Amino acid sequence: MSFWSRHQIFEKNSIVLIGGILAVIAIGGLVEITPLFYLKSTIEAVDGVRPYTPLELTGRNVYVREGCYLCHSQMVRPLRDEVERYGHYSLAAESMYDHPFQWGSKRTGPDLARVGAKYSDEWHVTHLVNPRAIVPQSVMPGYAFLAETEVDVAGIADHLRASRTVGVPYSDDQIANAVADLKAQADPDSAGADAFAKRYPKAVARNFDGRPGTPTEMDALVAYLQMLGTLVDFKLYNEKANLR
Ligand code: HEC
Repeated sequence: MSFWSRHQIFEKNSIVLIGGILAVIAIGGLVEITPLFYLKSTIEAVDGVRPYTPLELTGRNVYVREGCYLCHSQMVRPLRDEVERYGHYSLAAESMYDHPFQWGSKRTGPDLARVGAKYSDEWHVTHLVNPRAIVPQSVMPGYAFLAETEVDVAGIADHLRASRTVGVPYSDDQIANAVADLKAQADPDSAGADAFAKRYPKAVARNFDGRPGTPTEMDALVAYLQMLGTLVDFKLYNEKANLR
């Protein structure tokens, strides 16, 4: 019997064909899935990635609450036009502490994964209060009320604790001082600023909304936007990949 006539057994008998399909899919599935059980992590560790500070986490909550993800993605895809527009494509590690992640697929506005340090704080505040003040044809809504709304600090320590249960490595010290750290990051001249800098090295402390007094949701949101995409030093990656 030649190969092709043996193959007729499958082609002429649907039950045998289904059995054959299942066997092939099972082998394919095993090859793809079994290794995952033996890997410690599917996310490659990357230098510089750290958990969010309490103020940034609060800003992230505002971002989610206001539905910014409905118009903005946070994932630079590994395609030439995206890399040229936004910078190095996103790494899995960059969203490893995101619960939930904000990758998104809708881009009414530009991708925000690398928006940190692209503009000044003042630019962001002006733009968030009234996007048309900067981009006359913008369809983005204004969020002026954020500048008038003080941050509700009551839940922040619990949010850090909850994040820890899903794998974000916050220390006891960071959880116990969450409220103090939140306030210190928005007020770099305050007494708590040094302790904050010790707990979150390299995090930027600034008066993000440019106004004195207790931190507002504007402080929190701008703190979050200004750190997006800034944790990893991509100079090393770009040299290695010979990009730019
Ligand atoms: C209805 C859709 C829409 C929503 C909702 C929206 N945006 Fe935008 N956003 C846009 C558009 C369109 C632009 C481009 C024009 C402009 O700069 O205003 C933009 C631009 C931006 C930029 C400038 C990006 C760059 O690289 O130039 C930032 C930052 C931004 N949005 C943040 C936010 C934040 C934070 C929120 C939630 C509080 C938000 N947006 C909600 C549509 C939206």
